Formats: sequence, structure tokens, C-alpha cells
Amino acid sequence: MKKFVPLICAAILSLGFASQVQAEVSVKAEMKAMGQSFKAADSAKDAATLKKELVTVRDLAKKTQAQVLASRQQGKPEQTYLEGIGKLLAALDNSIALADAGKFDAAKASLARAKELRSEYHKKMRD
Ligand code: HEM
Repeated sequence: MKKFVPLICAAILSLGFASQVQAEVSVKAEMKAMGQSFKAADSAKDAATLKKELVTVRDLAKKTQAQVLASRQQGKPEQTYLEGIGKLLAALDNSIALADAGKFDAAKASLARAKELRSEYHKKMRD
């Protein structure tokens, strides 16, 4: 059994958060897709498009949340990730509720919070 340990470690090292290579979960593909949908939300001209794109971002964020929660590793990077993604989900829920209520301008303006969290946590997770 012991001889398998290095192999498992190598597999774990090949994945992971950008500079935090010890993590076993990769969120890269989902983040890439979140980037595209968030951009589409930010340039949406109507509430229906805005809502559709934000729901896609929320689904992707939830998917990564579940992956990180299920990870065998639960250290500092995972804690920081879950903290940030929890805040992002709350911000997205708020924006989606505004879009649902037909408050298009307020929903658009509320995207500033998600942008703030994006830059805050991208920076934190690079440190
Ligand atoms: C609206 C919010 C967000 C958007 C649109 C977004 C988008 C992106 C994009 C486009 C990338 C680059 C992916 C690539 O390399 O192709 C990325 C990377 C990353 N993001 Fe986000 N992000 C958001 C919020 C967050 C939050 C809140 C966190 C942490 C809690 C986070 C954690 C990460 C991490 C760890 C990476 C590096 C992934 C890797 O290369 O392994 N992001 N994000």
C-alpha cells in the first residue's frame, strides 16, 4: 500500500488552484465558463438575458462549491475558496432577485459586488 502514496501525491500535485498546487480539485474550467457568462450578463440589454447568464454563473459556482466541499483536502485554500464562493453566491442571488423583480438597472448596478469579490478572492488565492 505504501508504494502507492507517491503516485497519489503526483496525481494531486497535477491539479489544483492556480498557485496552490497542493489542492486536489481544479476549478479552472468552471471559472473560465463563469468568466464568459458573467461578461454576457454585464453587457445584457434586458432582464431575461441578465437573469439567464447569472443563473449559469451561479450553477457553475455551486458546482465548484460542491467539488471543494467533497475534497479530501480541507486546508486553508479550500477554506478561503468556500468563504469567497459563499459570498459570491449571496451576491448573485441578490442580483437575480433584482432582475426577477424587473429592476434591471439596479440588477446591473449590483454586479459591482460580484466584481469586487472576484478581484478580492482572485488576489487572495494567488497570495
Ligand atoms: C463573478 C465572479 C468571478 C468570475 C467571473 C471569475 C472568473 C475567473 C476566470 C475567467 C478565471 C481564469 C480561468 C482560466 O485560467 O482560464 C478564474 C480563475 C480563478 N478563480 Fe475566479 N471568477 C470569479 C470569482 C471567483 C471567486 C469568488 C473565487 C474564490 C472564492 C475565485 C477563484 C478562482 C481561482 C482559484 C482561479 C484559478 C483557477 C486555476 O487556474 O486553477 N473566482 N476566475
